[in-house]
Amino acid sequence: MKDIIVHKEPKSPVSEAYRGIRTNISFDNVDKTFKTILVTSPKEGEGKTTTLCNLAMTFALSGNRVIVVDTDLRRPKLHKLMEISNINGLTDILLKGDDYRKYINNSVHPNLDLITSGTIPDNPSEILGSDAVKRLIEELKKDYDYVFLDTPPVVPVNDAIIMSTYIDRVILVLASGEVEQDVAIKAVRDLQKVGAKILGTVLNKVPINKQKYNYYYYSNELGE
Ligand SMILES: Nc1ncnc2c1ncn2[C@@H]1O[C@H](COP(=O)(O)OP(=O)(O)OP(=O)(O)O)[C@@H](O)[C@H]1O
Ligand SMILES: [Mg+2]
Repeated sequence: MKDIIVHKEPKSPVSEAYRGIRTNISFDNVDKTFKTILVTSPKEGEGKTTTLCNLAMTFALSGNRVIVVDTDLRRPKLHKLMEISNINGLTDILLKGDDYRKYINNSVHPNLDLITSGTIPDNPSEILGSDAVKRLIEELKKDYDYVFLDTPPVVPVNDAIIMSTYIDRVILVLASGEVEQDVAIKAVRDLQKVGAKILGTVLNKVPINKQKYNYYYYSNELGE
């Protein structure tokens, strides 16, 4: 779990920043209006998976029952960050119609369940728009406090856009100095066009003191 800093170094300023994001989200959710949170970004490599894993762990550490599902069926990386096997996972559940509980990895933290991507399919968009995935999400909503979904970036492929139509909220991770303003705006517009509810943005990779520290800024100005 090399990049799960909230677990490894809970007292670090970075972990404190993640806890700040959790507090903001919990505050937005004081009436428990949402459970499923999709994490995406305009472009690749902006830090979606890193942000999602740390946030999910932060929620788990504060006593929530959390599940993370790797719905990035193009370049799945949840298993790499969490250092767990991806011999099977989401695609097995969806294509074989198996019970999702058979594919849970619970080795990282008792409150945190993980479902990796499984074998990469030829038709990710079709699979992610299927009734099978919607049924799975409904089942997970019954069993957990929070369901976090990792996805591919919005601009190159439409997987996250498709999923945002049946997911409660979207968190957009923007990498400072990497994503151009017009690309970020396009991502927001594409999500809004399908009615996605953007909970907030996380500004990632903000350089401090000329060093590339991890630093995060959460804003919900785009949300409701
Ligand atoms: N805050 C940060 N500071 C420095 N490096 C970071 C930060 N967040 C992520 N990274 C690094 O950036 C790279 C991409 O991160 P990550 O895999 O989380 O991005 P991603 O958006 O999920 O990528 P992809 O589009 O491939 O799914 C990794 O090497 C990760 O360690
Ligand atoms: Mg990723």
